[in-house]
Amino acid sequence: MNDPTVILEARGIVKRFGPLVANDVAQFSVGAREIVALLGENGAGKSTLCKILYGYYRPDAGEISVAGRPVRIDSPQDARRLGIGMIFQNFSLIPALAVWENIALFLADLPWTIGPGELRRRMADLAARLRLDIDLRLPVGRLAVGDRQKVEILKQLLAGARLLILDEPTKVLAPQEAEGLFKTLSELREEGYGLVLITHKLREVLACADRIAVMRQGRIVDTLARDEADEPRLLRLMFGEEAAAKRSTPRRVTAAFGDSALRLDRIVTAAEPGAVPLRGVSLALREGEICGVAGVSGNGQQELAELILGLRRPLDGTKELWGEDATRWTIGTIRARGVASIPDDPLTLAAIPGLSVRENLALGSGKRYRTGVALDWHRVIADMGRSASRLGFPPPAYGARAAILSGGNLQRIVLARELAHDPRLIVALYPTRGLDARSADAVRIALDEARARNAAVLFASEDLDELFAISDRIIVLRGGAIAGTFLPASFTPDVIGRAMVGIADAA
Ligand SMILES: Nc1ncnc2c1ncn2[C@@H]1O[C@H](COP(=O)(O)OP(=O)(O)OP(=O)(O)O)[C@@H](O)[C@H]1O
Ligand SMILES: [Mg+2]
Repeated sequence: MNDPTVILEARGIVKRFGPLVANDVAQFSVGAREIVALLGENGAGKSTLCKILYGYYRPDAGEISVAGRPVRIDSPQDARRLGIGMIFQNFSLIPALAVWENIALFLADLPWTIGPGELRRRMADLAARLRLDIDLRLPVGRLAVGDRQKVEILKQLLAGARLLILDEPTKVLAPQEAEGLFKTLSELREEGYGLVLITHKLREVLACADRIAVMRQGRIVDTLARDEADEPRLLRLMFGEEAAAKRSTPRRVTAAFGDSALRLDRIVTAAEPGAVPLRGVSLALREGEICGVAGVSGNGQQELAELILGLRRPLDGTKELWGEDATRWTIGTIRARGVASIPDDPLTLAAIPGLSVRENLALGSGKRYRTGVALDWHRVIADMGRSASRLGFPPPAYGARAAILSGGNLQRIVLARELAHDPRLIVALYPTRGLDARSADAVRIALDEARARNAAVLFASEDLDELFAISDRIIVLRGGAIAGTFLPASFTPDVIGRAMVGIADAA
């Protein structure tokens, strides 16, 4: 095939990791002026395929052609020379350097050189053309995550990318930021670029993709044009007939709440670099209650979770757990009392990449699995297997290093570990991030079941639909303070959205 509008085509791509066939892709292509979404369950092989196209992995078999000509892509440098750029989740920017310096550094390994003045002019031109509104002189460390992503995009385009691959770019973006990204993507499409977008959010796929390739167990099972696709059809392709039919969202029924599980009284925490201090947070959570936490991430959610877990001490105010003063309890005591924590980034906070999955599963379980100096691995595996299967997740790959797990599989491990022992209080920050649609449902159902068992749940999310589905009450965090508290009758996006941005009309 030599269609000038096709930027890249891959055929017969096979990639094995030991016995695992991570990719067996008959055909995949991306054209100019086209957004191709890559969809599929956790571990389906999406990131692997993209890393092959970007030269990060060598395929065991298969051919790739760019603009109709067969090419070898042995490294990301090769990929960049061929006009292929990729944006990973963990951005590779240096926080202390200005935006323009970061970009200049990245361009330095390209064969051509231009002076700094000329470079800055080109950057500003391109940014203006794509309406990427960022100040090139600011240090990257001062930018919000959505703006850092724009810098990454700019960087790849200035390096000459005609095809941009984005691996779950919206996973860490607030809804408004995601909207901004989609505007940028459509500008790029108009300008003739080709785009590959990985996301688990079906709504995003249906809103912006021209074609949708669905992966299952390493293969692309179908590629649909947008007008052939709808949610049920995509779910069937991803999970099969049966699984798609079983999908259900829990229903919130007003229950009688039990005794006090958590009580925070006028909590104030210190202002530290990189942290949002809590400013007089008072919150009461009872057994059998799910309290949703709405708000753009970075408004004190992480600090609130750390405070409850005993990782952060208050300067002022008190914390009670189940009626006892827990202000000075250590994290060990708090965990031993049955507090589970799902942190917002499993890789930096909950899992150690160099350790095996089995070791990560035993971590944080305190003395539970200790027999003398040794650990009872049989019990670890039995408990974790049970917990994973209760959540409908496949059995964890116990021997694998956490570092090689797919993003969603890592999140599944953290969830299986934290929910294994019927916790009495669950502090969950964005627990469904990176999960495929079915696993995300399973997590919401698990939180609802925990509530039915009389656990108390604090559940932060940027997805209001998800919060509305299972919360008994929603608080809005803004700038380290509670900006509003809402009961189900006022669960509407506009009311809560107004509190999120500071126009309060809370009850
Ligand atoms: N370097 C590696 N070594 C061994 N196995 C790997 C390696 N990289 C990926 N895998 C495995 O290949 C499979 C596919 O992983 P991949 O990251 O491509 O999935 P994915 O579709 O991106 O999933 P997710 O939606 O969870 O991000 C997984 O089972 C993963 O554990
Ligand atoms: Mg992935």
